[in-house]
Amino acid sequence: MARVDVIRVKGGARLAGDVMVGGAKNSALKLMAVALLAEGRSVVANVPRITDIAIMAEVLRRLGCDVTLDGTEAIIDVPAEPGSEADYDLVRRLRASICVLGPLLARRGYVRVALPGGDMIGSRGLDMHVSGLARMGAEISGEHGFVIASAPGGLHGAKIWLDFPSVGATENILMAAVLAKGVTEIDNAAREPEIVDICEMLNAMGARIEGAGTSTLVIEGVQGPLKPVRHTTVGDRIVGGTWAYAAVMTRGDVTVRGVRPEFLDIALDKLATAGATIEPGDNSFRVRTSERPRGVDIVTLPYPGFATDLLPMALGLASVAEGSSLITENIFDGRFMFVNEMVRLGADIRTDGHHAVVNGRDRLSGAPVRATDIRAGAGLVIAGLCADGVTEVGEVHHIDRGYPDFVADLARLGVEVERTDVPEPTFDF
Ligand code: EPU
Repeated sequence: MARVDVIRVKGGARLAGDVMVGGAKNSALKLMAVALLAEGRSVVANVPRITDIAIMAEVLRRLGCDVTLDGTEAIIDVPAEPGSEADYDLVRRLRASICVLGPLLARRGYVRVALPGGDMIGSRGLDMHVSGLARMGAEISGEHGFVIASAPGGLHGAKIWLDFPSVGATENILMAAVLAKGVTEIDNAAREPEIVDICEMLNAMGARIEGAGTSTLVIEGVQGPLKPVRHTTVGDRIVGGTWAYAAVMTRGDVTVRGVRPEFLDIALDKLATAGATIEPGDNSFRVRTSERPRGVDIVTLPYPGFATDLLPMALGLASVAEGSSLITENIFDGRFMFVNEMVRLGADIRTDGHHAVVNGRDRLSGAPVRATDIRAGAGLVIAGLCADGVTEVGEVHHIDRGYPDFVADLARLGVEVERTDVPEPTFDF
């Protein structure tokens, strides 16, 4: 009989101690794609040891690169002429692999990448990636489930206004623009720290990008080849934020290391409003409280707004806080899908469109639940810490995609937790 992994946590723990956070998944994946822009050996350091990085390594290998994952380093040897095709079997496992579109178009003038398909958190279109690259001279079509882009005469600079500061579209256009002829300006660009990280690696390779971290990126295309570099990934603010919310929900005292607190300004300010004490440090911060948190209203928005990836943690906090909270999701239409699982844990949450009204309960109630995506998975485990009895979270492969050493970190912070495999029921006809 097939077996599947589950995480079991015993409720009632108070998280206490230090936790070290590694590099940001959503930066490291793209930095690995950035490496494609230069022939030779690039090294991306501080990569998290998670499934998504292993899949990205395989995407690059199939494009002809030699990739070694050594501890927290991705060592990438890029050939003079990388391949130009990414298959569905890999892309469906990792939507982020769409980020090879921009660099391959820039280097090869032709690229064929499978359409990533749906995702549990929403519809997630590619229209802004496509229209941005088209402005730069790319001809783009869709055929048999693939996006096919070509630029036989090379890419040229263009002025591009994004309808929405999409992270993925900003990255793809940026990576294509660094080798285009002339100047590209991206207006309403995404401002996430991960975008700044990508710009820093590109500039170290010889690209000319100005405005990183603002909503206008100006990229002067360079004609000569870029050079391979070694780059260290920025710390994972979402993993850091997850621990901060877990600390307050369990009335604990946790010091998060490896993440700059200013990247979590709004998220930490909400915790202060909820009653916690926040002590920012240098690439670290301490979060503590001994009281039950108070309800706070939270609205997700593109950076520097409250991160959508912390929405499950915001709902978790609201579920155990005193009073009611209004939580609004503005980025992904399917983020509330996991609310049903929170309700199984006894949370009092009602949703209407992109709003959720949450009435906090003193304790939740342990139950078997299922992770529906990376962040929901982590959010459910943490909600389980505030529940009576044992909570068993299934489909933990989602959590493995974003949280290295999650169970070990929980145990170190004082949680009774185990990861184990259970038989997967099969129903034969
Ligand atoms: N969108 C479009 N058209 C486009 C591009 C985006 O309609 O051409 C829409 C999407 O459907 C979505 C919204 O715009 O509703 C935001 O999409 P965005 O492009 O900003 O996000 P992404 O690049 O697909 C990255 C992260 C997500 C994170 C979001 C927002 C990676 C690999 N993923 O996604 O992270 O939630 O930015 O910050 O970088 C996660 O790590 O669990 C995760 C989902």
